[in-house]
Amino acid sequence: MSLLFSKTTLGPFTLQNRMVMSPLTRNRATRNVPNELMAEYYSQRASAGLIVTEGTSPSPNGVGYPRMPGIYSEEQIKGWRTVTSAVHARGAKIFLQVMHAGRIGHELNLPPGARVLAPSAVAAAGEMYTDAKGPQPHPTPKAMSEADIKATIGEYAQAARNAVVAGFEGIELHGANGYLLEQFIRPNSNQRTDAYGGPIENRARFVLEVAKAAIDAIGKDRVGIRLSPFGAFNDMPPYPEMEADYTYLAQQLNALGLVYIHLVDHSSMGAPVVPASTKEMFRREFKRTLILSGGYDADRAEQDLEAGKCDLVAFGRPFLANPDLIDRWKSGAALNAPDMSTFYTPGPKGYTDYPTLAKERQPA
Ligand SMILES: Cc1cc2nc3c(=O)[nH]c(=O)nc-3n(C[C@H](O)[C@H](O)[C@H](O)COP(=O)(O)O)c2cc1C
Repeated sequence: MSLLFSKTTLGPFTLQNRMVMSPLTRNRATRNVPNELMAEYYSQRASAGLIVTEGTSPSPNGVGYPRMPGIYSEEQIKGWRTVTSAVHARGAKIFLQVMHAGRIGHELNLPPGARVLAPSAVAAAGEMYTDAKGPQPHPTPKAMSEADIKATIGEYAQAARNAVVAGFEGIELHGANGYLLEQFIRPNSNQRTDAYGGPIENRARFVLEVAKAAIDAIGKDRVGIRLSPFGAFNDMPPYPEMEADYTYLAQQLNALGLVYIHLVDHSSMGAPVVPASTKEMFRREFKRTLILSGGYDADRAEQDLEAGKCDLVAFGRPFLANPDLIDRWKSGAALNAPDMSTFYTPGPKGYTDYPTLAKERQPA
């Protein structure tokens, strides 16, 4: 009996299996509005137990990338409703990944009047792709005032409410991969001297206040968070207190009682290894659902589930390239390889046209 393929629960929700589709930014949301093409893409993959959407901005300020969707306008809520209905019709549950990009943005990618904000005025090393002028150096962000912090927390809470209106079971706060929440956690990007900077109790404050505001808005069963301890993506260098800092976070998030923690491990993509001790620490300190991700195939997922290391396993590139991933694994069929050249390009190519086994079997 496979654990991976069997039913389970996530808080009050029943999942048809323990497979989660990882959040995958695909940049198909023209004008930052979710559309029919996206509904088709997600519905193709809705044999997962849980889908976590691509990073979606809670506000105009949080839009870092071109064609990244938002959840701050009526039109966006309406667009997402099409996605959630299509996914629910095929049995999956769906959480919206709420991602404020913070300093990983560019004026050229932002809606009119929006600002690139971050804990401190420290630019990230590297470049940001813009549709207007190609790759551009990361700008120096505006350090958030206390009023900016309050307003941004309010935006997350509103995004949570909008997500429920759009039909999502809940939201995943994007606290990973160098975006706004992680920019507050890490000392290189957070050089504040007020109550939001300095010791971890202060650097964690924004994340915990955002989580609390989201919980107050829609309830703890509907709020999860993604974290990337030891992650280095988007100019996030390692530092000595990493494990201790994330232990504090795990304990505080456990006290808040949110429904899941989703840990990122990008060592399969050449990033630093996340020590086994860190994953064990999260398992020990956090009592609700733990999702592990990064470089998994079905066998390794089954082993980690059996060993009790986690409750659910998330798959990114395998779902991207295989809409019928479960059928392929159940039948032992080979997987399609992901085509990196179409990860972030507009249109259906490399998005909704990956072949399924059923299509392959059809006579020409
Ligand atoms: C094209 C692409 C887009 C991604 N976008 C996001 C994102 O929006 N949010 C996020 O948390 N992670 C994002 N990731 C990371 C994935 O969720 C996942 O952690 C990573 O692909 C490793 O898992 P895998 O080995 O199963 O692919 C992205 C990865 C890829 C390849």
